[in-house]
Amino acid sequence: MIKLDYRYVLDAITQKDIDSSKERAMAAFDMLMNKTGKGNQYLGWVDLPIESTTKEIEQIIEAANKIRKESDVLVVIGIGGSYLGAKAALDMLKSYYHNDFEVIFVGNTLSSTFTQETLEYLKNRDFSVNVISKSGTTTEPAIAFRLLKELLEEKYGSEAKNRIYITTDPVTGVLRKQVETEGYTSFTVPANVGGRYSVLTAVGLLPIACSGIDIKEIMAGAKDAAIHYQKASFENNDAIIYALLRNLLYDDGKLVEVFVSYEPKLDFLSEWLKQLFAESEGKDHKGLYPSALIYTTSLHSVGQYIQDGSRVMFETVLNVINPEKDIIIKADKENLDGLNYLSDKSLNYVNQQSMYGTIMAHVAGGVPNILLNIDKISPYNFGYLVYFFMFTCGISGYILGVNPFDQEGVEAYKRNMFALLGKEGYEDLREKLKGK
Ligand code: PA5
Repeated sequence: MIKLDYRYVLDAITQKDIDSSKERAMAAFDMLMNKTGKGNQYLGWVDLPIESTTKEIEQIIEAANKIRKESDVLVVIGIGGSYLGAKAALDMLKSYYHNDFEVIFVGNTLSSTFTQETLEYLKNRDFSVNVISKSGTTTEPAIAFRLLKELLEEKYGSEAKNRIYITTDPVTGVLRKQVETEGYTSFTVPANVGGRYSVLTAVGLLPIACSGIDIKEIMAGAKDAAIHYQKASFENNDAIIYALLRNLLYDDGKLVEVFVSYEPKLDFLSEWLKQLFAESEGKDHKGLYPSALIYTTSLHSVGQYIQDGSRVMFETVLNVINPEKDIIIKADKENLDGLNYLSDKSLNYVNQQSMYGTIMAHVAGGVPNILLNIDKISPYNFGYLVYFFMFTCGISGYILGVNPFDQEGVEAYKRNMFALLGKEGYEDLREKLKGK
């Protein structure tokens, strides 16, 4: 479960500001629920956890079990919303060191060194491939698939196609066509669910299930979150209040939201959050810039700037209350390191005090803090959290006045890249770019 604590923003935004903006937030909530806002053809994720069937989940688990049986490694090919959610789940829910099945992510970069080293690494391993692309046309995963397919065919001959799993649009796109011609096992990204809102579909669930995480628990958490946030009144609805706070802080001149955690396992959840909010809200020359830091690590690097630099940011702290593991710091007879003041205290207690100390220092320095308390790290809470953030993001984007469900801006670099690479249809642009 997740609980919002916004007492550390009240120096900047008062309860009166919040109450008097309630109508603005509720209008955005209504737009989302009644599907009357921009991008309403992409709201399939809103009810997805409530409507998803046991059969769909069982099919994913069955494929995951087959992959685990036949392979030592699953190679996930995808970029943006087609990989960030699964990677966030794996990093959050798996052990730092001891994991019985390896999942690696490729096709999210054009680095030739990374790609070549991955191909070499896979040569001596049994692996299966999950290609995830809703459009099927994204260059980075398409190139990675071509290279991985060649390696699979070299290793497994005609059996290669039994190791290829495609997750794509139910009807259109080149990957769907390949499923039909080659007979690959396939899963669908529902047409009404955009990439960065797709972690609770096969896009996220198949790689997550392959790594042995209980995806039924994830869906149970997401379902409880959906039921709660869709029904709860403003006063009891942390998603609506958080969406409003973000916008009030933005109106007050804050341009950057820094997602902070004191648990490194949440590092990639922050990457997923950065994409979710940046691609949803960074439009029409508006929107908070999402950034992320792991404390206390970054307090010894970027911390100076947060405390004393330009006053453009607020922090959203993802606080895990109960760690999976803890350590008691014992007394030492000599006390040569001077740490005996911590005797019999747990490391998590020290981490928590560092968090409260930092929050108070940053708030005093003019950086408002929003605290999101998460009782513990679990598959259920992962599902609950991702739904909370997607629901917040939809409402927040509507409060801001943008379409949170498109990403036109992403096309600009692609057009130039295609022109520079000589792709058919981009001849005029290539001429225009010459000499620049
Ligand atoms: O959120 C989004 O829609 C994007 O980040 C996409 O997920 C990303 O561009 C990958 O697209 P595709 O799945 O079509 O390859």
